[in-house]
Amino acid sequence: MHELSPEEQAVYRQLDPSRIPEHIAIIMDGNGRWAGKRALKRFLGHQQGAESVQYVVETASRINLPFLTLYAFSLENNLRRPKAEVSFLMKLLKSYLIGNVKRMNDNNVRMNYIGRTYDLPQEVQETMQWAMESTAKNTGTTLTLALNYGARTEIVDAVRRILTDLTTEAHTRGCSVEDLLGAGSLDSLDEPTISKALYTASMPDPDLMIRTSGEQRISNFLLWQIAYAEIFITDRLWPDFRGIHLLEAIADYQRRDRRFGGLSDNSDEKIDSLQPVSELETEIATELTPPRELTRR
Ligand code: FPP
Repeated sequence: MHELSPEEQAVYRQLDPSRIPEHIAIIMDGNGRWAGKRALKRFLGHQQGAESVQYVVETASRINLPFLTLYAFSLENNLRRPKAEVSFLMKLLKSYLIGNVKRMNDNNVRMNYIGRTYDLPQEVQETMQWAMESTAKNTGTTLTLALNYGARTEIVDAVRRILTDLTTEAHTRGCSVEDLLGAGSLDSLDEPTISKALYTASMPDPDLMIRTSGEQRISNFLLWQIAYAEIFITDRLWPDFRGIHLLEAIADYQRRDRRFGGLSDNSDEKIDSLQPVSELETEIATELTPPRELTRR
């Protein structure tokens, strides 16, 4: 890991390389506050935020993180922010892509996008397409920018896609959708079917979700995919976030005990050493005291 800075290396050395997350998602928040603290206009916070993006992406690629997904522009940002700010963010995205594709290639990073990107300005879409094609052969970190993205809309789009596919299949087979549902299509609609219809179909679910600037909410980001993600919230504002902070978040993640609804690996009640149910029931029955009768006051 000689490409990491000495400070980053010091944190990296404490990590277990076999337990680096597969996928980290980040809600980049606090650009406006960063600018406000310095009596600067909000757009300068976004500009500084774009620099943080590149620092973090390069550290991610140096530690061979397979997937990094960044919440760059939400559907709500598009609808609720002043037009001038939206237009600045679009220009910033375009210049970020033009200015960084070479660095992406030097770092073996592949560009990808999720969201209703077809509603973004045409020239931005063209630059996005160009950046994706220019980095398509890279095999390192996949950097996914969520643009004009909303998680509920993603689920709506997934359901629409499933229904459209079903209608097409009925048409091809010359039967009705009802016939297909009766013939087992309803039973075969399961969690993997939904996952495969989401924008993130080709990626594993995030193991770690980071949010900067201290807010404790998910803001309609990857709602389905983060079912078992660990959440790391830092007060640091996004324009101050660097690769070393990504490594610190991973160190925190590695200290967590992920259970996915099961028992901890360290639990002294491992499945194979559990008492037979009947024995346990007798033990519990003798230990449980009968419920007290409630008296009216
Ligand atoms: C939140 O800050 C951040 C955004 C709305 C957009 C994120 C954009 C960037 C990091 C820069 C551009 C990104 C790329 C990929 C070029 P905020 O304005 O909500 O901050 P505040 O909550 O402090 O007001």
